Amino acid sequence: MKKIISVVGARPNFMKIAPVDKAFNRIISNNGLKEEIKHLICHTGQHYDEKMSKAFFVDLQLPKPDFYLGIGSGTHAEQVANVMIAFEKILISEKPDMVIVVGDVNSTIACSMTAVKLGIKVAHIEAGLRSRDRAMPEEINRILTDSISDYLFVTEKSGYENLLNEGVPKEKIYFVGNVMIDSLANYLPKMDNNNIYKELNLETGNYMVVTLHRPSNVDSISNLEKIIILLSKLAASIKVVFPIHPRTRKNLDLSGLINELSPNLIFTDPLGYLEFNSLVRRSRLVLTDSGGIQEETTYMGVPCVTLRNNTERPITVEIGTNYLVGDNTENAFEKCVEILDGNFKKGEIPELWDGKAAERIVDILLDRLN
Ligand code: UD1
Repeated sequence: MKKIISVVGARPNFMKIAPVDKAFNRIISNNGLKEEIKHLICHTGQHYDEKMSKAFFVDLQLPKPDFYLGIGSGTHAEQVANVMIAFEKILISEKPDMVIVVGDVNSTIACSMTAVKLGIKVAHIEAGLRSRDRAMPEEINRILTDSISDYLFVTEKSGYENLLNEGVPKEKIYFVGNVMIDSLANYLPKMDNNNIYKELNLETGNYMVVTLHRPSNVDSISNLEKIIILLSKLAASIKVVFPIHPRTRKNLDLSGLINELSPNLIFTDPLGYLEFNSLVRRSRLVLTDSGGIQEETTYMGVPCVTLRNNTERPITVEIGTNYLVGDNTENAFEKCVEILDGNFKKGEIPELWDGKAAERIVDILLDRLN
């Protein structure tokens, strides 16, 4: 019996592991491998709110995790250390043959490091992405996780090149496509049936969606002020929906900035997976600082303005619908106005973003395990 443990921790992990879990189940059942392969899920609890975690398990039809570490919030050192201590106990008692981690959150580096130190093979899905900005905690997590993983699955060509340039042997790198897009492709029909836009009094094509949660944008009051001015200016010509991440909510509440704003500015709690992407799909434009949303908008052909100086996902700018405007809210305003006036690129879907990445990954991993 071969045992594999996949790790989820924070919101952007759930849609990446869901298709992997489904692919394992499909392959195990189609090939009668029930006695030979066991795929388990460990949730570190880095994100724990109903709306940041449980809602995603429901929307993505993920099974209840086999292990829940309940780590919660904390400083970076606390979070990483607490995950490592708790995950090590699971690894020692379960003795898996492989650990799968995704993305770039603190749970990713914590669990990969714990597994490697116990001599357990690690597969990193969404490897090789680089923003080249070491002030981003995620960039440190990416570099470290990639440098110790045994199987590196990349979503775009830049990932392949970055890893080769860092000296990773090419035998360890697999260009397989994008598991997050597997989820999106799979759930698009359900999203089209979702009515959240009606509940929020919106019309298809007549509103924009905003998400901002990066520490560099939302941790200082002066930046938040600039962002609120930007959103208020945009709200003069279009409805603006802003589902607020807990980090941003905390700082906005402290700043007292969200009083007396335009009725066109609609703030909501974090939304579920289907609700959020159904809103994006019907929107005219997205303004974000997220990594994953740059990819989802490219796949859906929705223009995206990214309020960051860099992106670890350059393919979304090169051939997708994404525009990088730096951390300058004036530039962001100009680009948004241009797009709202109808001037934007149509974009193409990147190579291998075809809904089958998880299948490819699981095929490769099962082959290597034997
Ligand atoms: C984390 C990831 C980031 C990812 C983001 C998506 C790291 C280093 N960062 O950042 O890459 O883009 O998740 O959401 O791993 N909080 C709640 N409820 C929750 C979770 C968090 O209220 O369920 C609050 C906490 O009090 C915390 C704040 O939100 O202070 C931020 O959470 P944290 O997990 O530290 O980082 P994120 O900013 O969410």
